[in-house]
Amino acid sequence: MNEDKIKNSFQNIKKDVGEVKSNVTEILNELRALNYLKSSKLVTPSKEVGSEKIFTSKVSVTEGMRESVNEVFDSGIFTSGEKVREFEKKFSEYCGIKHAVAVSNGTIAIELVLKSLEIGKGDEVIVPSHTTMPTVEPVLHVGAKPIFADCLEDTYNINPKEVIKKIGKKTKAVIAVHLYGNPADLDELAEICEKKKIYLIEDCAQAQGSRYNGKHVGTFGIAGCFSFYPTKNLTVCGEGGMIITNDDKIAKKSRMMASHGEDGRYNHVILGGNYRLGEIPSAIGIKQLEMLESFVDRRREIAGIYNEAFDDNKKITLPKETKNSKHSYHLYVIRVKKEIRDKIIEKMKENNVFLGIHYPTPVHQQIVIKNMKNLKPSKLKTTEKIVKEIISLPMYPLLKDEDARMIAEKIKKIVNER
Ligand SMILES: Cc1ncc(COP(=O)(O)O)c(C=O)c1O
Repeated sequence: MNEDKIKNSFQNIKKDVGEVKSNVTEILNELRALNYLKSSKLVTPSKEVGSEKIFTSKVSVTEGMRESVNEVFDSGIFTSGEKVREFEKKFSEYCGIKHAVAVSNGTIAIELVLKSLEIGKGDEVIVPSHTTMPTVEPVLHVGAKPIFADCLEDTYNINPKEVIKKIGKKTKAVIAVHLYGNPADLDELAEICEKKKIYLIEDCAQAQGSRYNGKHVGTFGIAGCFSFYPTKNLTVCGEGGMIITNDDKIAKKSRMMASHGEDGRYNHVILGGNYRLGEIPSAIGIKQLEMLESFVDRRREIAGIYNEAFDDNKKITLPKETKNSKHSYHLYVIRVKKEIRDKIIEKMKENNVFLGIHYPTPVHQQIVIKNMKNLKPSKLKTTEKIVKEIISLPMYPLLKDEDARMIAEKIKKIVNER
C-alpha cells in the first residue's frame, strides 16, 4: 500500500468513527431524556393524585442544562460566543434548513423577518385573529396594516379560503400560526402565496417539533419564527427566539439587524438594535433541543390519554390532527358549550387543577386594535364563537398518566352533571 492509500484509509476510518460517535451521542441523549422523564428525579414528583396544584405548563429542568450553564460561567463569555453559534447550528440541522438566527424573543423574530422583506408603511399582512398579540404586534411596529382572517372550526388555524378573500393589491404577506403546535394548512397556504406572489411567514412559536408532510414547520414559507418562552415545547428558561430560513438575504439582514446593523465589528450598515440571544439561554436551548423529540413524544402520549378518556363523551370536542400533520401538543385544547366552560374552570380550580384559555379575546377585538382608527376589522364568525368554548388542559412532559386521567374524569363528570 502506498502512503496516499494509507492516508486515505485513515481519513475514512476517522470519518466513520466520527459518525459512530455522533450516533452514539444521539442515542445516549435520547436515553438520558427518556430516563429523566421516567424517573422525574429532578422535579417535585406529583404527590397523591389531586393533592398538588397542577397548571397548564411546567418546565422540565435537567442536570445537563445546569452543567451547560456552568460551562458558560467557566468560559467567561456571556454573549455572541460558541453556545449561540452551536445552538443555531443544531437548530438548523434539526429543522433541516440552511440558516438559523438566534434572537432575543419570538416577537422580534417576526419583526426582523418583516423588516428583512422590506414590508412596511402602505403594505398589508394577512394574519389570524385567533392567536396571541405577539403575532400581530410586529406587523404594526413595521407600519404595515394587519388584515384579520377567520380560522377553521376544526384546527382553529387560519382558514385558507378566508385568506384568499382578504388578498388585495397591498397584500405583501400572510402570517400562518401553527396554533397549539398544530400545523396550519401549509399545502394550501403555500400554493395561495405562490400564486399571488406574496410571502408566507410561519409563526412557529408554539410548534417546535411539529411536522407537516413529514417536514418541520417553519421550512415551508420564506421564514419560520420560534419562541423559547418558558411554556414552550423547547425553552431557554427565559426569553429567546429563532428565525429559520433558506434565504441567504433574510438570514444576513436579520442577523445584522439583531446586532445594531453591524456587518463586521463597528461597521454599521443598516439600522438595527440589540436583539441578540445570550450564551446562557443558548446553553440551555442546546440541552432542551437534545430532549425535544422525547418531549414531543411524551406530549403526544398524554394527548392520547386525554383522547381516550374523552372518546365516549359527545359534549366535548377534541383537538384535530389532520392527516398531513404531526401535532406537537404545545397545548391540548378541548371545546365545550360556552354555558359550561367557566363552570368547568372554576370547579377544576377547587380540585387544584388550573386550566387555561388560549385565548379569551381574539386580537381583532383587543382594545389596542379597536383604538386604531384605520383598522376597523370585520366580524370573524368562527373565531368569535370558538373563543367562548375553548379550554386548555395541563400539558407538559412531566405530567403523570394518572393525573391526566384524573383531570379528564373530573371534567367529564362536570360536563355530565348538566
Ligand atoms: C403564537 C405566538 N406567536 C408569537 C409569540 C411571541 O413569542 P415571545 O413571547 O418569545 O416574544 C408567542 C409567544 O408567546 C406565541 O405563542
